[in-house]
Amino acid sequence: MGKVHQEILPRRANNSNLADYGQAVTYFKWEDVERQFSWYETGKVNMAYEAVDRHVEEGRGGKTALIYSDPVREESYSFADLKEKSNRFGNVLRKYGIGKGDRVFLFMPRQPDLYFSLLGILKIGAVVGPLFEAFMETAVKDRLEDSGAVALVTTPELLKRVKREELPDLRHIFLVGGYSDPEKGLISYDLESASASVELEPEWLGLEDGLIMHYTSGSTGKPKGVYHVQRAMIQHYYTGRVVLDLRDDDIYWCTADPGWVTGTSYGIFAPWLNGITNVVRGGRFSPRDWYSTIERCRVTVWYSAPTAFRMLMGAGNESLKGVDLSSLRHVLSVGEPLNPEVIRWGDNVLGQRIHDTWWMTETGGQLICNYPGMDIKLGSMGQPLPGITAAILDDQGNELPPYSMGNLAIKTPWPSMMDRIWNNPAKYEEYFRIPGWYISGDSAYMDDEGYFWFLGRVDDCINSSGEMIGPFEVESKLVEHPAVAEAGVIGIPDALRGEIVKAFISLREGYLPSDALKDEIAAFVKSGLSAHAAPREIEFKDKLPKTRSGKIMRRVLKAWELHQPAGDLSTIED
Ligand code: WT7
Repeated sequence: MGKVHQEILPRRANNSNLADYGQAVTYFKWEDVERQFSWYETGKVNMAYEAVDRHVEEGRGGKTALIYSDPVREESYSFADLKEKSNRFGNVLRKYGIGKGDRVFLFMPRQPDLYFSLLGILKIGAVVGPLFEAFMETAVKDRLEDSGAVALVTTPELLKRVKREELPDLRHIFLVGGYSDPEKGLISYDLESASASVELEPEWLGLEDGLIMHYTSGSTGKPKGVYHVQRAMIQHYYTGRVVLDLRDDDIYWCTADPGWVTGTSYGIFAPWLNGITNVVRGGRFSPRDWYSTIERCRVTVWYSAPTAFRMLMGAGNESLKGVDLSSLRHVLSVGEPLNPEVIRWGDNVLGQRIHDTWWMTETGGQLICNYPGMDIKLGSMGQPLPGITAAILDDQGNELPPYSMGNLAIKTPWPSMMDRIWNNPAKYEEYFRIPGWYISGDSAYMDDEGYFWFLGRVDDCINSSGEMIGPFEVESKLVEHPAVAEAGVIGIPDALRGEIVKAFISLREGYLPSDALKDEIAAFVKSGLSAHAAPREIEFKDKLPKTRSGKIMRRVLKAWELHQPAGDLSTIED
């Protein structure tokens, strides 16, 4: 592995929250984190209690917990409001015989009731399964069927996508904004909640009892139900402090939808476990609305994704006119590699260095990060958090020295590690095939200072004439070319070289596809990166296939190229 560019940001002058835990890894104990929960003495746990009720009991009930805004509404709710509303719905669920361990799914747009009902489900010890509102019939059915969900909270509009006759386990449907129809098993969420009691004793659980399920797509086959347990709260709370750097008076905004793990671990649990005011924005992405959300709500800590930053970047400086982003204190990113180009944009436009964080649905929480208090190297995912050990392993499980490319692995366990893949123990075991380690499926390398550098999904790496090429590195270079809006890079079979690099490119406004432009772009990568990494083939596309969380779906590009079926497309954007 060649030398990498290393631009280093000086240490933050002020203390970070990490100081609470002694900064040095050698002093770190998970137990010191656990001690901060009320259940440390009692052994009784309930995520919704820790995230909501505890603050009310400790005198913070009047503090704003949720600021919801979309183009037509703006509402705020205190911790006491959340307690009341989740208690009401918890009582409704109990009335219908739903309780501990039952899977209850959510299928609705991002709106306050999504948050109230999610907390209500957790209060009574049921396991919540949030589904992204854009899922179509088959995606919804697969997930409800696989999980054996007994109840669903949805809206009359989305109900049309629920194939009830094929889902025998699904006994109850709670309609938000709809009427009861007992014959059809439809229950009005609003009316029943309104008449339910506001008092509720939470279901007291153990750390190993269920919390949440998120379905994640593999490269082949059906989506996997990643199942997390209550213990994850330790990681959510801790990373909220040391990575999000949350402090009492912060206004925090995580842009992710709760249909994805970021939207729950960091859109719900981390901020509320820490008692922080949480901004939720509904409606579609729009640069002006996003900037004005930061301005109006005085957002201080902002967690988003490279795809969103790139869209804002693409929208240009027009949309920034007259906007005041000076409230921002800390900005973070997750989901895919953070291109150095985007970091430079953040420096200039947000006035903040964007902190990259690495983790996965399966890991439940952040593991390798750029956290306040450490030096940032542009393009690196950062370092394992105190309490986490990461390494690069070969396929036999040997630890590789710095700069060798291999499997990114995490030493087991950590608090938010997935507990199982629902209905699929064999799949689960695959992640732990090397004793003592979790194998992420990402390939990466570590430098000689212990920073980790992402290369790609293991199956995405391109081997051209024996040189291993990480698609991300090529994509990052491509998007530096002024004509390139987005790029997806794959390897395609080649008789001579094994594989060659092919780039799918969508152009920025004002550029037209041409052979001359292809040559120019290829030459740009060749001179900027290396000859072997330069795409030998380029194809222009109006749009690239991306997941809703913004990841370019290289397997779909590959399937197009090889005229093969593209596999599960339930997470694709539009
Ligand atoms: C995969 C996990 C975890 C929340 C969102 C995605 C990629 C994630 C980074 C990063 C490079 C990243 C990895 C990982 N990924 N963060 N900072 N740099 N790649 O969750 O859908 O489970 O995807 O996203 O490939 O394995 P997910």
